Amino acid sequence: RHLAALPAALAATLLLAACGGGDDAGSGDPTADGGVALVQEGSLTVCTNPPFEPFEYEEDGEIVGLDMAIVGEVAKDLGVELVTKVTPFEGIQSGADLNTGNCDIVASGITITEERQAKFDFSEPYFDADQGLLVPEGSDIDSLEALEGKSIAVQQATTGETWAQENGLQTVQFEDLGLQVQALKTGQVDAAINDIAVLGPFVTEGFEVSANFSTGEQYGLGVKKGSTALLDAVNGTLERIREDGTYDELYTQYIGTAPVASSDS
Ligand code: ARG
Repeated sequence: RHLAALPAALAATLLLAACGGGDDAGSGDPTADGGVALVQEGSLTVCTNPPFEPFEYEEDGEIVGLDMAIVGEVAKDLGVELVTKVTPFEGIQSGADLNTGNCDIVASGITITEERQAKFDFSEPYFDADQGLLVPEGSDIDSLEALEGKSIAVQQATTGETWAQENGLQTVQFEDLGLQVQALKTGQVDAAINDIAVLGPFVTEGFEVSANFSTGEQYGLGVKKGSTALLDAVNGTLERIREDGTYDELYTQYIGTAPVASSDS
């Protein structure tokens, strides 16, 4: 590395990043990679869009969930503190939050798609997803065919919205999952579509998951294009937590079942 050729300010940032979080009593040796520049010194800032349980949701005034736990592991490996920013999914998935310096990383159940890969860089996949249909208990809408002529709540800028539109469905757009379910509750829409893993928590509230549309999606964490040091760190953490059992533990804690070994077909 030609550190001497770097502007002084950048070199200072690199040095600070290398020392990041080190003065917290008892936190052990910081392992921050000197090449990781962060939007806020000493912190890994993550943008996320709750409510999206079990990936990001509020509990006792804090945003928790599988995504938050995983980025928490990344922050730990970097020797910095995790700072969470709640933002609309639109800016998360378009790369805007990363490109404007709002966040270092986006963790929001984001499906890896080609269109998004053109705008920011994804980590290795960490979760498999499909679309699901949420309806009021007792509804007879339980298939793509049955959705014809019905009005369906979708979340803005998501793969669920794209899927519904590609299938010619009549969609009503909402900014988040909470508002989608609210519309279903009030009868403004007949059904709601989103990633199937986040629909389960509503079954106790008078809804049922009546169909599974297998789209074969995979979630990835996102960083700004060119943030290769951070991307390497993120993938390093994903690899570490797969190997040391942390991923399985977190998966079981938040998803409720042990992960099924991928079939690599
Ligand atoms: N997986 C879907 C997508 O990438 C939905 C993600 C929505 N995430 C959220 N936290 N609201 O489009």
